[in-house]
Amino acid sequence: MEPLNGPIRWGLAGTGSIVKSFATDFARAGEGEIVAVASRSQDSADAFAAAHGIERAHGSYAALAADPDVDIVYVGGINPVHAPQTVMFLEAGKHVLVEKPIALNTREVDEMIAAAAANDRFLMEAMWMRFNPASVDAVARIHDGAIGEVRRVLADFSFNLPYDPESRLFDPTKGGGALLDVGIYPYTLAWWILGEPDTTTAAGHLADTGVDDAISLLCGWESGASAALTAGVRVPGTMTARIEGSEGVVEFPLPAHAPDHFVLTQGFDEETVRHEPPGLHYQAIEVHRRLRAGERESARMPLATSRAMTSHFDALRAQLGVVYPAD
Ligand SMILES: NC(=O)c1ccc[n+]([C@@H]2O[C@H](COP(=O)([O-])OP(=O)(O)OC[C@H]3O[C@@H](n4cnc5c(N)ncnc54)[C@H](OP(=O)(O)O)[C@@H]3O)[C@@H](O)[C@H]2O)c1
Repeated sequence: MEPLNGPIRWGLAGTGSIVKSFATDFARAGEGEIVAVASRSQDSADAFAAAHGIERAHGSYAALAADPDVDIVYVGGINPVHAPQTVMFLEAGKHVLVEKPIALNTREVDEMIAAAAANDRFLMEAMWMRFNPASVDAVARIHDGAIGEVRRVLADFSFNLPYDPESRLFDPTKGGGALLDVGIYPYTLAWWILGEPDTTTAAGHLADTGVDDAISLLCGWESGASAALTAGVRVPGTMTARIEGSEGVVEFPLPAHAPDHFVLTQGFDEETVRHEPPGLHYQAIEVHRRLRAGERESARMPLATSRAMTSHFDALRAQLGVVYPAD
């Protein structure tokens, strides 16, 4: 694989809230440059480019794909555009970092992985939690045995929004639902710590639009470890996580998916471990490293894991009765 030499030139696909956060945090990545932004609307692209000091503003996503001076695209639109946009950019010869969830279902992930392979391009799901320093350190310590054998993971990502059937979180045509939008974080945490669950079941409440707005997931591993994970977009939750082992406990305070510290308890000793604040740039730094090395995916967020997790989500959605137009 050919390494990318010279400047790494990013294009942004979308002008919504996560793309704004990415553009802001990117300044802390240390290298690379955002050279273009695209939107369905030229006005939105122009306004975004002006606000963030970006050279070129495209009034369509196809125009960004055709921009010869873009190496990698950050796909930050709503969930249903992840797969089609990613495939379009890969086929245009761009590398792609795509927001979580990587896609709506396994069939879409397979199309994305096939397009990355066919075009020899880098592809990674932007699961930023896996790159935030406090999360990385805590999981490394757990893997090194800091709390003995992990027995249980208890984690929540829930908040209570007013019901709005048009919002991307509640509208099935926009890929709404708690599992894919926020449940993915506690699920990723448990998977990161313990590997792929051997069994997993879901129960929960559906909004009138048919998407899940409050869910509980129960995961089991052959070792006897288990996880109780909750997520919701219309239910107040703690947004914390607690990993319990035979010799100790790790606790992530709110917000557990993006912490700047954690508390490690070993016997009677309790230590608060502090880190740099979380940010969307840590995943960009990983992308830069992989591109410089000529690699086409990251071992820290492998495509096989994104695919396997999506297949679990397909099964959990079937249990809950949540169906998307793309299914
Ligand atoms: N990593 C994180 O912490 C985090 C946090 C929040 C959200 N997310 C993820 O980021 C994605 C976007 O969420 P958001 O909160 O930024 O949403 P948002 O503020 O509602 O923005 C919607 C985004 O979708 C784009 N878009 C493209 N095609 C669209 C279409 N056909 N209809 C509607 N919008 C379209 C919009 O761009 P234009 O209007 O410019 O075309 C805009 O960038 C989701 O996949 C979500 O899961 C990640």
